[in-house]
Amino acid sequence: MDRPAGDTSDLLQQATGLFAGERDPWANAANAAALVFESLPRLNWAGFYFLRGGELVVGPFQGRAACVRIPLGNGVCGTAAESRKTVIVADVHAFPGHIACDAASNSEIVVPLLSGGKLIGVLDLDSPDYGRFGSADASLLESLAKELVSACDWRLAGIDGF
Ligand code: SME
Repeated sequence: MDRPAGDTSDLLQQATGLFAGERDPWANAANAAALVFESLPRLNWAGFYFLRGGELVVGPFQGRAACVRIPLGNGVCGTAAESRKTVIVADVHAFPGHIACDAASNSEIVVPLLSGGKLIGVLDLDSPDYGRFGSADASLLESLAKELVSACDWRLAGIDGF
């Protein structure tokens, strides 16, 4: 793509284009992870964990190999999943129970994926910068999460409750 690195202005529009006519959760989540990783500056990891068999299991992502399973309530991902709220952590080393997958990560944002009342999983972004994420990132990523949730047929994915 010929956009400059870090151009977020059309991320949602790009996502709409990528999801158009495609209902497969893994395909759309893979493209969403790639789009986020390419569009947002100063990331070292961007991807998904999905609720499968009662815990979060890693899904499509960009970045270094990550831990596979996260129980609900554990780490930043499990906290966001359990509370069903976006969690922004300015310094992951100060977050009790943070799960370190990549030693380069210093801050993190995790956005839950929700369909009606049901938890599908989380979108997780890590940055090597401290305090990288703020409310503008939260609203952008929450919009993307909504778009992804409505674009997919989650019955195809083996996710709890679907
Ligand atoms: N740091 C996360 C684990 C996932 S990795 O960052 C990819 C956590 O504490 O839940």
